[in-house]
Amino acid sequence: EEAAKIVLVEDASKLRAEKVKIGQLEPHRGSRVRVFGWVHRLRVQSQMTFITLRDGTGYLQLVLTGDLVKTLDAFDLVTECTIEVTGVLKQVPEGKTAPGGHELVADWWRMIGKAPTGVDAYASLFNEKSDLSVRQNLRHLDLRAETPAAIMKVRAAVLTAFRAVYAKHTVMEVTPPCIVQTSVEGGASLFKFNYYGQEAYLTQSSQLYLETCLPSLGDVFCVQESFRAENSHTRRHLAEYTHLEAELAFIDFKDLMDHIETMICEVVDMVLADPIAGPLVQELNPGFKAPARPFMRIDYKDAIAFLNEHNILFQDDDPNVAPRPHQVGDDIAEAAERKMTDMLNVPIFLMNFPKHLKSFYMKKIQGDEEFTESVDVLMPNVGEIVGGSMRISDIQELMEGYKREGIPADPYYWFTDQRKYGTSEHGGYGLGVERFLAWLTNRWTVRECQLYGRWPGHAAP
Ligand code: 4AD
Repeated sequence: EEAAKIVLVEDASKLRAEKVKIGQLEPHRGSRVRVFGWVHRLRVQSQMTFITLRDGTGYLQLVLTGDLVKTLDAFDLVTECTIEVTGVLKQVPEGKTAPGGHELVADWWRMIGKAPTGVDAYASLFNEKSDLSVRQNLRHLDLRAETPAAIMKVRAAVLTAFRAVYAKHTVMEVTPPCIVQTSVEGGASLFKFNYYGQEAYLTQSSQLYLETCLPSLGDVFCVQESFRAENSHTRRHLAEYTHLEAELAFIDFKDLMDHIETMICEVVDMVLADPIAGPLVQELNPGFKAPARPFMRIDYKDAIAFLNEHNILFQDDDPNVAPRPHQVGDDIAEAAERKMTDMLNVPIFLMNFPKHLKSFYMKKIQGDEEFTESVDVLMPNVGEIVGGSMRISDIQELMEGYKREGIPADPYYWFTDQRKYGTSEHGGYGLGVERFLAWLTNRWTVRECQLYGRWPGHAAP
């Protein structure tokens, strides 16, 4: 009771304490500093309180002693409170570890914002047994935990790396619209809405817009949200996802695959070399090694043979139809693709899919016209992370493509014009950023790799 009357007054006679972010503390060892943050962990002893403070840039161990643990606010210290602290930053003695290798011996602190105790306390919201749906509905608080934050930090490094590697290869960033009136990957997965009395959609892919940029901007890429109204409750399907797409002019199919391989490998190297993201990848995915080049390349027909050799059967959409061996022409379903990828356990280019399984814009293989110059990149543990192809360069072939897929050509006049005003051989691809992350950070599902997840039935918070 006596102790609770203690009021701490910041000692103005002491040397000025510079305000520093936790991640930037190292050069300030031996000096007095001021830090702000959230109480991440807390251990209260009779005369001492140990705190791990978090500000997004890192974690810092604090020690409060003496009068500092006897204030009224000290009784309210729980995890997730925000506090301001000053003190001298000391390197931890040899044999002891602390985040960053140092510890702040506090000489003053104040409470900025209290946090709930009891059943509402942060620690009681989550525990070992919390299932995914609890965490998902409390995503705004779950993000404060170490693993979700680590994934988001790797995500940021991955996007930064892609932008840097594209810049190095002179591929320019553009920002296509999310509101569109044409489909790219078929009408079935379009989110439709009323747009000033007209029908419009949320974009499925920015590919067609990227293609229109080639004649004015050269090779281009974008990082844009794509939307898919598929009712797929799988480990790797989202209703909204971050789609990284690129389009390159005057290339052939081999150039396209070489480019995709280069992008993936240079981005991985850059992320692993990053002082923050590199160690986080190793924490999330221990033993992860950059993939070896060149990637394995498998023709679709050989993949069908592989599935049959390994007794991986084709399952019809109708569960009453008995599974049967795969035939050339069959779509390779997610489960079969995953089994094959996990057996081979290396990145794979799966190439040359049948025309009837693919979109209207894909270029046919000369001399094997029922198949296309198309490629998926498959990664162990995830399966398809990239879908790409060479595009039709001939206007007649494009018109046939619209017809085959039952697409009215009129709304695509702007796309068709690209074949009219100086056509070119060109190709491109789309990479699912969450799938790339699920592979890199070894997550069970892509849902962990979005800031706020969007999948069938789930749009809050
Ligand atoms: O294979 P998709 O549908 O290809 C396209 O949209 C092309 N137009 C892209 C292009 O060539 N510019 O999608 C490309 C990638 C997939 O490989 C996958 O990684 C991701 O986008 N993707 C999804 N990710 C999460 N949830 C979904 N529902 C996804 N659908 C596709």
